[in-house]
Amino acid sequence: MRVGVLTGGGDAPGLNAVIRAIVRKGEKAYGDEFIGFADGWRGLIEGTVIPLVSEGTRGILPRGGTILGTSRTNPFKVEDGPERVEATLSRLGIEALIAIGGEDTLGVALKLLGRGVPVVGVPKTIDNDLSGTEVTFGFGTAVQIAVDAIDRLHTTAESHNRVLICEVMGRHAGWIATHAGIAGGAAYILVPEREFDINAVCEVLIERHKKGRYASIIVVAEGAQPKEGSMVVQSGELDEFGHVRLGGIGEVLAREIRQRTGFDTRVTVLGHVQRGGTPTAFDRVLATRFGIAAIDAVHDGAFGQMVALRDAKIIRVPLAEAVDTLKTVDPELLEVAEVFFG
Ligand code: F6P
Repeated sequence: MRVGVLTGGGDAPGLNAVIRAIVRKGEKAYGDEFIGFADGWRGLIEGTVIPLVSEGTRGILPRGGTILGTSRTNPFKVEDGPERVEATLSRLGIEALIAIGGEDTLGVALKLLGRGVPVVGVPKTIDNDLSGTEVTFGFGTAVQIAVDAIDRLHTTAESHNRVLICEVMGRHAGWIATHAGIAGGAAYILVPEREFDINAVCEVLIERHKKGRYASIIVVAEGAQPKEGSMVVQSGELDEFGHVRLGGIGEVLAREIRQRTGFDTRVTVLGHVQRGGTPTAFDRVLATRFGIAAIDAVHDGAFGQMVALRDAKIIRVPLAEAVDTLKTVDPELLEVAEVFFG
């Protein structure tokens, strides 16, 4: 078969491992031919292709980013976008398309499926907020990067008797913050799933410091919201999927804590460091399994399905299920985290 492959949305460590697995198994087991599309859906709109053969995918397993490039282009926000995508597919004789992405990329895949495009989805996002799969590749790597940073923050916080706030990504879900906060021994974790009361945060810090602990690490998700205020955003501009750019809650929090407690409080915003560099071994294996399962799904004609991880097995779920609702942090996990506050 002639199969198209694209990576869309924010990149995540492990994308190259998926591409490598698709191409390797597709060529070896099925005699497939692959065409990569550059920069997500933009490549299909503009007809920009990148040759994809096994030889060209050697050595990319440990590499972060994506050899295909990515973008947040939404064909349904571009004039004649869907028609242009379909024209590219038919001009190149593409018989199946594998879309590797998060809720936005897979949401487009679902709409195109409705128009008759034979598409299979692969879940990707460091945010881990995609339904249908227990975990997405890239998430574990982002958490590990955050934990490494938090471990370093502990020692300098202790030397200076400081409150150090670590702002992490995750958009409207607190998966990275919760996992990194638990693994990094944070004194408090703030997530979008629970609006926070700044007085309660300060009280916990004051009590903790009364016990002779003068240093504290707070992990805050970029999407966390104070009870009394609205979400802090970096820019009011919306991307093509209607998302604002989040960020800046760490600074707001630091100012409030400084004013209310007098504690020397500083902020570290991890930002895109969480998305860069080499994937962990777990993410490489998960991404590889997803890639193999995606090309198998193509050959089973399982269009409209997304490969997913459930009970340690790779399964298929309808794309509609994956993009229907955001997967937010399980309250049970938040309760585990709360035991260690203070
Ligand atoms: O969805 C992944 C993510 O890294 C979010 O955690 C974050 O809010 C967003 O992408 C940042 O997007 P950009 O790279 O476009 O600034």
